[in-house]
Amino acid sequence: MRESPAPPTAPPPSTSAPSTPPSAGRTEAACAASGRFPLALIGPGALGLHFAARLEGVVPIALIARDEASAARLRAGVEVDGRRFRPQAFGPEQAPEADWVIVLVKAGDTAAAAATASRMRPLGVLSLQNGLTGELLRAHCTARQVEQGITTEGAYRERGDEGDRVHPSGAGETLVPPGFEAVAELFVRAGLRARVEPGIAHARLAKLLVNVAINPLAALFRVPNGALLDRPHRVLLDTLVREALPVLRAQGLDLDEAAALARVHAVARATAANRASMLQDVLAGRRTEIDAITGALLRMAADHAIELPTHRAVHTLVHALEP
Ligand SMILES: NC(=O)c1ccc[n+]([C@@H]2O[C@H](COP(=O)([O-])OP(=O)(O)OC[C@H]3O[C@@H](n4cnc5c(N)ncnc54)[C@H](OP(=O)(O)O)[C@@H]3O)[C@@H](O)[C@H]2O)c1
Repeated sequence: MRESPAPPTAPPPSTSAPSTPPSAGRTEAACAASGRFPLALIGPGALGLHFAARLEGVVPIALIARDEASAARLRAGVEVDGRRFRPQAFGPEQAPEADWVIVLVKAGDTAAAAATASRMRPLGVLSLQNGLTGELLRAHCTARQVEQGITTEGAYRERGDEGDRVHPSGAGETLVPPGFEAVAELFVRAGLRARVEPGIAHARLAKLLVNVAINPLAALFRVPNGALLDRPHRVLLDTLVREALPVLRAQGLDLDEAAALARVHAVARATAANRASMLQDVLAGRRTEIDAITGALLRMAADHAIELPTHRAVHTLVHALEP
């Protein structure tokens, strides 16, 4: 935690890519003055602030908000996990350069975040978003390495008259692709459970399986995750798993039907009292991440000429709930 940081401004970026991380080992003030940080995070919402508040103890970290007004509010202080956090926050236009950039905007804001990340001239960009956003990020980002990891860390944001509060909702594990060893090491030093996962593509598909089954049904029926294990929701839950499986297996997911059902049921049981993020979005009248979750599955299915009528119906119904 630091005291009243001055509104930061980044010097103009240089024009050639750095060969070694020039900001490693610098203090926060030195990073702000030089305009290059070892680490930056785009999307300081619930999960982004949870990660950033943990990481600031081990590395200077720049937070990039949606706009300068949001960045100014963050600089004034935000409560994260019961303590005051005053981050080095910037609007997209003032974003400094950074060695590594983590993306934690909602899926619908990925293209804008990718454009910001490109301007920061990073060695690598790591998405920890839900759904499959890697392709979209790569399409809009010029960084050398652009990859998607996965995380089961959880956090939620409470809006209040005296500002936002972010609460952790469960410690999980963060898996990052090879090439992002430096980022995994920072996570571990910050006390987060994290590791490099060589089979990250498989892990992403396994997470997508869980997301395409639980998220839309929780949103449509407006129930916590555990209720999906009971009738009448259980029939649809299992139908979504069985329907998705041939597509995900064609993409490389190595799970048979019994293992796939067991995995989804285990997550619903372990998060029984939780409201899925898609349900929270629907209840708050926000756009959901259905296109990055069920939409991604439907795009894969089209590549394999497989019909997914239940997922298509769920995709249409969730869209109908959006503002
Ligand atoms: N929360 C969890 O427990 C959890 C767990 C696992 C995975 N995830 C995934 O993590 C991602 C983030 O989730 P979240 O719950 O943290 O969402 P969130 O609270 O809505 O945070 C997203 C943040 O990104 C900001 N943002 C939007 N566009 C931006 C841009 N162009 N540049 C910079 N910042 C921008 C938003 O600003 P505004 O406030 O102005 O909109 C908001 O502060 C999602 O993909 C989610 O599925 C979340």
